[in-house]
Amino acid sequence: MSKSVRIAVLPGDGVGKEVMAEALFCLDWARSRGRRIETVSLPCGADHFLATGETLPEAVFVDIRDQCDAILFGSVGDPRIPDGRHAEEILLRLRQGLELTVNYRPCHSSLSGQGTRLDIEVFRENTEGPYCLQGSTEPGRAIDLAIHTEPAIRRLLQAAFHHAAARSRPLTLAHKANVLKHGHGLWLRVFQDLRGEHPEVAARAMHADALLCALVQEPSAFGVIAADNYLGDLISDLCAAYLGGMGVAPSISWAPHRPFRCSLLAEPVHGSAPDLAGKGLANPIGMILSTALLFRHLGWEPEAAALEAAVAGALGAGAKTCDLGGALSTTVMGKAIRDRLPA
Ligand code: NAD
Ligand code: IPM
Ligand code: MN
Repeated sequence: MSKSVRIAVLPGDGVGKEVMAEALFCLDWARSRGRRIETVSLPCGADHFLATGETLPEAVFVDIRDQCDAILFGSVGDPRIPDGRHAEEILLRLRQGLELTVNYRPCHSSLSGQGTRLDIEVFRENTEGPYCLQGSTEPGRAIDLAIHTEPAIRRLLQAAFHHAAARSRPLTLAHKANVLKHGHGLWLRVFQDLRGEHPEVAARAMHADALLCALVQEPSAFGVIAADNYLGDLISDLCAAYLGGMGVAPSISWAPHRPFRCSLLAEPVHGSAPDLAGKGLANPIGMILSTALLFRHLGWEPEAAALEAAVAGALGAGAKTCDLGGALSTTVMGKAIRDRLPA
């Protein structure tokens, strides 16, 4: 019998909790097909922080790191905590502490059934750049450091080159080395090294500002886009807009060098959407497609492909939440997707 997979479930805040409920039904479905899944539900989020002062206690982090295989994450962010401290201490701690360097954000119109035809895969470095959270604020002056290291850049770019080579797709590096001479200069040097090792990949580097203009004018010219943490965040939201909005965009992060048992984090690209939270209106597709990516990374390709087909089938049949111009609630949309899953 196959080994049981242990998944830490962190719904987080706002719509994170609402869309997570739909992902948990997808885990139940995978179990009904014989996949062995154990879940550990963790209350980390704004309510828990406001009630206890705890964000992600070290013992909980260590338990996830050493006793779990993967994390399913909703979203964090709450207007009652305007500095987002709990979000940093939960989400960024997990990404950085588990060295989840590669954040993969696919944007396929074939899966979202919406908007402009698009087939772009963003590889975002997930642990460094300005997200190192080092800086200071003084009267009239503020500093945010951005730290880039060669091992993380190399891991991210290697993943992007391998993916582009395996799928015969063009690869574009987004950078601003014309201004960020140190950090993005290093990105460019590592990119050039790897381009030498992968002559089979049509690879080019573009200034990020020109890239965004071209992405709007001719999205079909792009395949795989690699970027640092900050630019990758922005580019992936622009791509999500092509698909109909934040509600449909999935992501998965992994640690290619496998430093710990827990080396997968599946989370939608969207946040806690305070404007929608509590209304039952959030689109569960980003969360469900993130669950599909998790299944694929666990080696469960039939379940991953079936979930993706069920999402495309439901949208094709006109099932939509309000962000896509429909009227379905989160739970009814989730059921419309599950009804298309094979037994
Ligand atoms: P957001 O992604 O929460 O919302 C942006 C827009 O997208 C809003 O109009 C919202 O209604 C819409 N939207 C988001 N998710 C949706 C869904 N599932 N279905 C339909 N529409 C959806 O971004 P924001 O407003 O900039 O941030 C809100 C909070 O979330 C902030 O605290 C932010 O820091 C946090 N955030 C967290 C994550 C994460 O946990 N991974 C990601 C992004 C933002
Ligand atoms: C995302 C979010 C996060 C990020 C925030 C909430 C820290 O925008 O996952 O894209 O910037 O990485
Ligand atoms: Mn973002």
